[in-house]
Amino acid sequence: MPDKLIVVLGATGLQGGSVARLYASLAGWRVRGITRNPNKDSCTPLREAGVELVAGDLDDPASLDRAFEGANVVFAVTDFWQFIQLPSTHQKAAEQGREPNQVAMDLEIQQGKNIIHAAAKHLSTLQRLVVSTLSDSEKWSGGKITSNLHFDGKAKYTQYLKDNFPDLARKSSYLQMGYYLSNWKSMAGMVPKKQEDGTFVLMRSGGKHLTPYVDPPNDTGYLVKALVEVKEANTTLLGYCELISNEKYAAIWGKVLGVKVRTEVKGMEDAKAAGLPDFLIREVSESIAYVSTWGWDGGDPEVKHPKDVGVEMEKLTKVEEWIRREDWSGVL
Ligand SMILES: NC(=O)c1ccc[n+]([C@@H]2O[C@H](COP(=O)([O-])OP(=O)(O)OC[C@H]3O[C@@H](n4cnc5c(N)ncnc54)[C@H](OP(=O)(O)O)[C@@H]3O)[C@@H](O)[C@H]2O)c1
Ligand SMILES: *[C@@H]1O[C@H](CO)[C@@H](O)[C@H](O)[C@H]1NC(C)=O
Ligand SMILES: *[C@@H]1O[C@H](CO)[C@@H](O)[C@H](O)[C@H]1NC(C)=O
Repeated sequence: MPDKLIVVLGATGLQGGSVARLYASLAGWRVRGITRNPNKDSCTPLREAGVELVAGDLDDPASLDRAFEGANVVFAVTDFWQFIQLPSTHQKAAEQGREPNQVAMDLEIQQGKNIIHAAAKHLSTLQRLVVSTLSDSEKWSGGKITSNLHFDGKAKYTQYLKDNFPDLARKSSYLQMGYYLSNWKSMAGMVPKKQEDGTFVLMRSGGKHLTPYVDPPNDTGYLVKALVEVKEANTTLLGYCELISNEKYAAIWGKVLGVKVRTEVKGMEDAKAAGLPDFLIREVSESIAYVSTWGWDGGDPEVKHPKDVGVEMEKLTKVEEWIRREDWSGVL
């Protein structure tokens, strides 16, 4: 039997890279990784691992159509945050009298639709589309959360697939990726902060909900593999390695590093002081409020957990080991 083909979007990124590397190591699979620039240096390790790298752009539907040629499986991911960095997003927002995060959401939704349209043209070979997504915070909060747009754009194009492409939806499953363990490095406000008395404070969401911690470079591949192998499509999986309270995470962190630590649900006063624009403060504050009150998945009863869909649990990241391996010297 010829090898099956998995086409991985975002192959040079955290999530897609994990999927591409895992499938490149599996017998019976070929991997086609999509990037805007297959000639860049960061593609070399992937290529050495056996991944074919092909040029494709989520803004260019024809390139996706070509990229999906012969695909048995497609892994799809879009990147909200890059749009916030682009001057053109801010220019469009100013012209339209809207916030930059609203423009970013529209751009992310359009990319999601481009992926869906392209995948729908390849149903003759396609057996499974796995979409990396997040829950619909506007819906699950009953309209109270209106500015958690890095969640809602993904939720909206996921719903667009379900509503408009039934034949594709019968072959699709959804991975709601959890909270990246690496987030502390991506935003000043999330770096553990040492107090006068030597105690460290971790800024986290509050409430009774557990947090789905995940290490995307390691875990995404195993989560996606389970969604590819499980017979039923139309499965929504909460993507985590450990579902634990933020207090538990803090306790492990303090134990590993031998320091006192507590968590705090902070408003964004520090961010404001640091000069973060209002629209971003709203985006992050509402995200924290949503997760604190409704949980990462909004309380969606359809959501499954890794052990329910056959994820190889023993291969997922152990939070304690991850903390041990991470370099915290700059924080301590
Ligand atoms: N931080 C969290 O806790 C968290 C949790 C859940 C979900 N997320 C979501 O995760 C997403 C980001 O995923 P990630 O961490 O895997 O991203 P990443 O590591 O930043 O990589 C982004 C990937 O997207 C590709 N890409 C971007 N624009 C593209 C375009 N126009 N055409 C083709 N490819 C494009 C990039 O490829 P090239 O540059 O090589 O073209 C790259 O491979 C975000 O939307 C975020 O909201 C984050
Ligand atoms: C997917 O599951 C939902 C919820 O159970 C159901 O309403 C929908 O009809 C299913 N869609 C497909 C394509 O099977
Ligand atoms: C994934 O995490 C597990 C547990 O921490 C570790 O043993 C394994 O080496 C990691 N795999 C990769 C590919 O990083």
